[in-house]
Amino acid sequence: MADPLRLGIAGLGTVGAGVVGIVQRHADLLTARTGRTIAITSVSARDRSKDRGVDLSAYAWEDDPVTLAKRDDVDIFVELMGGDSGPALDATKAALAAGKDVVTANKAMLAHHGQALAEAAEAAGRTIRFEAAVAGGIPVVKALTESLAGNKITRVMGVMNGTCNYILTRMESAGLPYDDVFAEADALGFLEADPTLDVGGIDAGHKLALLASIAFGTKPDFDGMRIEGIERISIDDINRAADMGYRIKLLGVAQQTADGVEQRMQPCLVPASSPIGQLEGGTNMVVIEGDAVEQIVLRGPGAGQGPTASAVMGDVCDLARGIRIPTFGQPAGTLADSPPARSARPAPYYLRMTLADKPGALAKVATILGQHELSIDRMRQYDHAELEAPVLIVTHAAAPDALDAALRALETTDVVLAPPVALRIEAV
Ligand code: NAP
Ligand code: HSE
Repeated sequence: MADPLRLGIAGLGTVGAGVVGIVQRHADLLTARTGRTIAITSVSARDRSKDRGVDLSAYAWEDDPVTLAKRDDVDIFVELMGGDSGPALDATKAALAAGKDVVTANKAMLAHHGQALAEAAEAAGRTIRFEAAVAGGIPVVKALTESLAGNKITRVMGVMNGTCNYILTRMESAGLPYDDVFAEADALGFLEADPTLDVGGIDAGHKLALLASIAFGTKPDFDGMRIEGIERISIDDINRAADMGYRIKLLGVAQQTADGVEQRMQPCLVPASSPIGQLEGGTNMVVIEGDAVEQIVLRGPGAGQGPTASAVMGDVCDLARGIRIPTFGQPAGTLADSPPARSARPAPYYLRMTLADKPGALAKVATILGQHELSIDRMRQYDHAELEAPVLIVTHAAAPDALDAALRALETTDVVLAPPVALRIEAV
């Protein structure tokens, strides 16, 4: 039998302990499938005394993940600490420089440093695999990189943050306001240490940036993404959307346009009857469209110990079998610079605004929309409060740039009392 494949694991939290568990539980199965023994040689975390629910006594302990990454008895450095820089980045660089392959679940690090790390991996004749970084247990990186390699990918979209989907679906099912459900999600331990990564759309944006790079052969470009979070979605928005046959989802869309790659992560209205519209709780869904395959829909757990460790081990097994694919599916030097495209296809928009209840207020809004070529499809005034008139407008298809300009103009008036909530109605 071939030599054992030796893992050094840095990070023994939710995901790291899950990976140790699979290696221990499924040793025979992993060997049968890869033809090699998968052995953990060394581990690292901050607190050596912490009980992690797995037996670590057979492994060498390193306090410093950089030291672990460089050990002679490590073939694959498994980075499961997290963070876009700091120890995760330092140790990943050290591992590549020392000639190790890297498996990571760290979307933040790759979204910010993926190109440089991919180049470093190639210079060392190694690769970085990151299935667990995008949509947890769903094998979407593998699907895009390998199974769909014969396609020109036209669009990748989906719901890639389970916490946001939990919050939005729970608000609807329980009729609870955002703040209450946010507190609930916090109590359940769903939120990242910095919750703005989740509810601000940043975590999902990191994931989309990685998929877009593979799909379109471009350098990962997180900074070129348009990102809006779900913080301003109210129970009113959810109920009004439901009345019209829609659900609100934090939806990521990446597509190649004539001007470059368009990437956006924003709350959108999607048809309630569509597969994405029906997605409940913390589940993720990724939809991939290619010229030959047409449409693939992948659905599954986007987070959690088992699903994320499952994805890590898929990468480890590939490396054990000798499958070493370039980090983003093609050599890093061939990934194109792609200007961020801002001009998404026109779409109808849902606008909620609170107007001053005085003569001419609505007329002023209608005039500004008209001046920006936005045509009103439907309009409703509801729940009238003293001196304030909440108004809901659905536009005909409008160009996003025109909408943005109209929103800026609306905010400068004395009749719109708070920045409007504007949600794209996406055909999915
Ligand atoms: P976690 O539970 O917070 O665990 C992080 C681990 O890293 C802990 O064991 C911690 O040590 C260790 N660590 C942190 N800083 C360190 C340092 N300076 N030196 C050595 N060890 C250090 O995080 P997690 O949920 O497992 O997430 C790990 C990675 O997977 C992140 O990149 C995350 O985004 C990604 N991910 C997580 C999920 C999920 O469902 N949890 C899903 C997809 C992707 P101590 O335990 O001693 O504090
Ligand atoms: N915070 C992330 C989520 C974890 O809610 O989807 C998985 O990346």
